[in-house]
Amino acid sequence: MFGFKCTVCGDMLVREEKIYRCCNNHCFDIAKQGYVNLLQSQQSKRKRHGDDKLMIRSRTVFLDKGYYEPLRNTLCQKLNNYICENQKIIDAGCGDCYYTAEIEKTLERKNAVIMGIDISKDAMIAASKRSKTLMLAVASVFSLPVCDGCCDAVLNIFSPFAPEEYRRVLKSGGLLFRVIPLENHLIELKEKIYDTPYKNPSENTELEGFNLVDKAEIKYRINLNNNEDIENLFRMTPYYYKTSAKDQQKLKGLNEINITCEFAVIIYEKQ
Ligand SMILES: C[S@@+](CC[C@H](N)C(=O)[O-])C[C@H]1O[C@@H](n2cnc3c(N)ncnc32)[C@H](O)[C@@H]1O
Ligand SMILES: [Zn+2]
Repeated sequence: MFGFKCTVCGDMLVREEKIYRCCNNHCFDIAKQGYVNLLQSQQSKRKRHGDDKLMIRSRTVFLDKGYYEPLRNTLCQKLNNYICENQKIIDAGCGDCYYTAEIEKTLERKNAVIMGIDISKDAMIAASKRSKTLMLAVASVFSLPVCDGCCDAVLNIFSPFAPEEYRRVLKSGGLLFRVIPLENHLIELKEKIYDTPYKNPSENTELEGFNLVDKAEIKYRINLNNNEDIENLFRMTPYYYKTSAKDQQKLKGLNEINITCEFAVIIYEKQ
C-alpha cells in the first residue's frame, strides 16, 4: 500500500484534517503549509538537517531562472516514457520540488501519485509552495517512511544515494531515476574559488541489484551575467559550506561567467 508509515510502530498512517494517525494512536501534525514531519523527535533535535534556509532559497531563485530547464525537460520526457497510469513515485531528497512539481504536471493525465521526501524542513516549506497535491514529508532517504515494495519509481536527483533503501521500497521491476553531475559540471565556478579545482569523479554505472536500462547525458553552457545568480549557484551547492570564508569571498564582485553544465540521467530497473 502506498502512503506514509508511522515511524514509531510501522503501521500505516491515515490522514485526518490536521494530523496523520496510526492504529496505535501515534500522531504527526500536518504543518499549515501541508507537509508532515515524520522525523522522530530525537532525530529532530540534532542540529542541522539537510539544506538550510539560505541554500534552499538560493536554489529556488537560481532554478526559477531556468538555468537547469534542459535537465528538467529531459527528466519529464523520460518519466513520461517510462511511467504508466496510476503509478506511485517517490522523490527521495526532493529539495524544493523544482523537478518534482513539473514531473507531477507532466504525469497528471496518467494519475501518478508522487511523494516528496527531504530531511530539511525548509525544503518542505519551499516545496509546499510549488504544489498542493504532492505528498510531502520530512524524513530521511536512508529510512523512507513507506512499506517494502510499495512504489514503481524512485527519483534520486543530486541527493544522498541510498540504493539499498530504494531497492526495499521499489516493486520488482520498479525504476530508479538517478541524476548525477558529470566530470566538468561547474568547473569554471570551482576554478574561480579553488587553487586546485578538481573535476567530479566519473561514476561506475553498475549497481548491485539493479539493471541499467537507459542513460542520457545533457551538456551545455550557461552565461551568468550578474553577481546574484553566481552567488546563488555557489550557495546551492555542497561546496558552499565546505569552503573557507576567505575563499567564499572570491566570488564577490564577479559579475559575469560562462559555466559548463553536465548531467547524466541514469535509469535502472530493480532486478
Ligand atoms: C543538492 S539538494 C537536491 C535537491 C533536489 N533534488 C534538486 O535537485 O533540486 C540535496 C537535498 O538532499 C537533502 N538531504 C540531505 N540529506 C538527506 C537525507 N539523509 N534524507 C533526505 N534528504 C536529505 C537536502 O536537504 C537537499 O534538499
Ligand atoms: Zn504508530
